[in-house]
Amino acid sequence: MHGVTPDRNLALELVRVTEAAAMGAGRWIGRGDKESADQAAVDAMRLMLDTVSMDGVVVIGEGEKDEAPMLFNSEQVGSGNGPQVDVAVDPLEGTRLTALGQPNAIAVIALAERGTMFFPGAAVYMDKIACGPEAVDAIDINASPAENVGAVAEAKRCEPTDVSVVVLERDRHDDLIRELREAGAKVNLIRDGDVAPAIAAARGGTGVDLLMGIGGTPEGVISAAAIKCLGGALQGRLWPRSDDERRQLADAGYDVERVLTTDDLVAGDDVFVAATGVTSGALLRGVQYTSDGAITDSIVMRSRSGTVRRIEAHHAFAKLEKLVGSSLR
Ligand code: FBP
Repeated sequence: MHGVTPDRNLALELVRVTEAAAMGAGRWIGRGDKESADQAAVDAMRLMLDTVSMDGVVVIGEGEKDEAPMLFNSEQVGSGNGPQVDVAVDPLEGTRLTALGQPNAIAVIALAERGTMFFPGAAVYMDKIACGPEAVDAIDINASPAENVGAVAEAKRCEPTDVSVVVLERDRHDDLIRELREAGAKVNLIRDGDVAPAIAAARGGTGVDLLMGIGGTPEGVISAAAIKCLGGALQGRLWPRSDDERRQLADAGYDVERVLTTDDLVAGDDVFVAATGVTSGALLRGVQYTSDGAITDSIVMRSRSGTVRRIEAHHAFAKLEKLVGSSLR
């Protein structure tokens, strides 16, 4: 450390943002109302975001300005001082999971140097494969599911039957699921939310080896940011839903054949990510409410240092209410 002044780790500021979003959404767990859950997460996240010392522009947000009054793409966020960064937010990744009280909903935010995040534009879906550090050289989005399972088993010195693959339960994945099972893999089907399992795949001890299949492109970029911090790899390929969409993407300059690597999705080398559990899952515990507040479980990371922190926070509502001047219950 001699002669070098450590700089600011923005991930430690970002965790307050995802904690707030998770606690906002947490009130809506199991209440069957995904719009209100999402809105509560967005409102809470927006409130905290300007405390972060950054000059941020939202590259991945809640959509177009007219439809999303807050956290829309191109919105300026942060204190205005500090580094110029691209910001990707998903205040509630897993709106339906939250509404239905199912596992793996998280609040998540990622930052990278300005101009270094892949802009998903009209590319709604992306085929993805994500893994942890041991399997970086084993995965290949162009290879068959069986080849991937075999190579990952070899890299991890286990049997294909030990390989756990998380896949979104969708009709478009029928062949993928069948081929994975034929290869011997354990297929863990999820209803929604492919960011938490992509991050879990990159993190040891979660019981997840791979995430595979077609999910959201914005979610792919956010997952890539986290994987950049944790080690591991994500490969993606845009997945147009129709010939029309394929043409539109080509006209907008996207190459739908190209394999997008972790670095293509997030080119920066100073990436910060924070995520807080809303409902419990392989990666994080969900928000727990106590008689006088809430407990949150978060993971915060920075690619440049490689430091990954797990933060359990106890929030005392009576004190916080005095600070913010409004009710948190
Ligand atoms: P929510 O909008 O309910 O948060 O769902 C998010 C998500 O499940 C992502 O995790 C995933 O990448 C994408 O939606 C899948 O899209 P689709 O539901 O259209 O297959």
